[in-house]
Amino acid sequence: MKIAMAADHGGYELKNILREYLTQEGHSVTDFGTNSSESVDYPDFAQLCCNAVIKKEADFGILVCGSGVGISIAANKIDGIRCGLCPSAEIAALVKQHNNANVIALGGRFTAPDLAKEIVDAYMNAEFEGGRHQQRIDKIMSLEK
Ligand code: RB5
Repeated sequence: MKIAMAADHGGYELKNILREYLTQEGHSVTDFGTNSSESVDYPDFAQLCCNAVIKKEADFGILVCGSGVGISIAANKIDGIRCGLCPSAEIAALVKQHNNANVIALGGRFTAPDLAKEIVDAYMNAEFEGGRHQQRIDKIMSLEK
């Protein structure tokens, strides 16, 4: 899959671990930074990653900040983005099955690397269930207008 990734200083280490993992698994990863512990503003990085998803340059996006909260809030301000914060593999599967999220967010300071890999795998292996969930997504999208 084509995957866009971005993080702030609180998430770049986990983002880099996931980038290496996903690349080894054969995915095509575009990394929009950041790549150091220097303090940056997570909305800037959310925007870079989400723009790639909106332009269909990526199949989905992965965002990481310290908690995962700020960067997911920023992502969800962008028209067409449905970003789900994923603290577990179960939630990661649900954000695809029920919310058809096109971006997932993780908390770099609260998610161990092995769990993060399980979370990403669970999201990628899940399928959107449509039906009543599509109706709800349509209502979410109408809120953007
Ligand atoms: C940065 O210190 C931190 O506030 C950020 O990574 C994130 O946790 C915000 O929600």
